[in-house]
Amino acid sequence: MISVAIDGPSGAGKSTVARRAAQALSFIYIDTGALYRTIGLYMSQRLEDTKDAAAVEKLLSQISINLKFIDGEQHVFLNGKDVSAEIRTPQAAMHASNVSAIPAVRVFLLEMQRDFARENNVIMDGRDIGTVVLPKAQVKIFLTASVEARAKRRLAEHTARGEHIDFNELIKEIETRDYNDSHRAIAPLKCAEDAVLLDTTALSLEESVEKVVSMIRKTLCGEKSIK
Ligand code: DC
Repeated sequence: MISVAIDGPSGAGKSTVARRAAQALSFIYIDTGALYRTIGLYMSQRLEDTKDAAAVEKLLSQISINLKFIDGEQHVFLNGKDVSAEIRTPQAAMHASNVSAIPAVRVFLLEMQRDFARENNVIMDGRDIGTVVLPKAQVKIFLTASVEARAKRRLAEHTARGEHIDFNELIKEIETRDYNDSHRAIAPLKCAEDAVLLDTTALSLEESVEKVVSMIRKTLCGEKSIK
């Protein structure tokens, strides 16, 4: 099986680039952020503070998460209910960032993520895919972009959904999440030593997809010629 790990900060374009690249190569795309968002959502409905590690850990056993692929799109089910739309709010993102710093949550999701890669050719995006989840991934890409570029892209996504969000609030939210995600003690966001860094600040979506697909193709061709 072939595994491609795409890591990077929030809003760098990972999910769109990874989804398109997966379509082009007929791989399965796994959005691991959705798993953390789902746990964040569940905890936010029951707890005052989603950073409360002891309380979150206690509730984890009540959760069952399933991924299904409908028309090529990943849908995430929380205890049987499709929460794919509900987990897309900025609040769910913040709760996801909170619960993702809790070791028990990361352990809970680790094998689930590895199972997908054992059974399928995958492009998996997240924060620790190349460093922790799939350290032997054949291709590792760290996708990044400036905070302003990322905030602009997020704003466009919210506007397209008819939601009004303040640009400066978005910048603050992205900076806070970047800080939390890269400073947590366990599996922090960082570029794996053997990852290729791709800065998409000045690239269009199409250009980013093209570069990622060509990086993957090059590696796959290399593998075939070695065998
Ligand atoms: O990629 P995203 O914005 O949907 O991720 C939501 C949060 O989940 C993010 O702030 C950090 C966390 N996360 C993580 O810790 N590890 C991953 N592999 C994916 C996401």
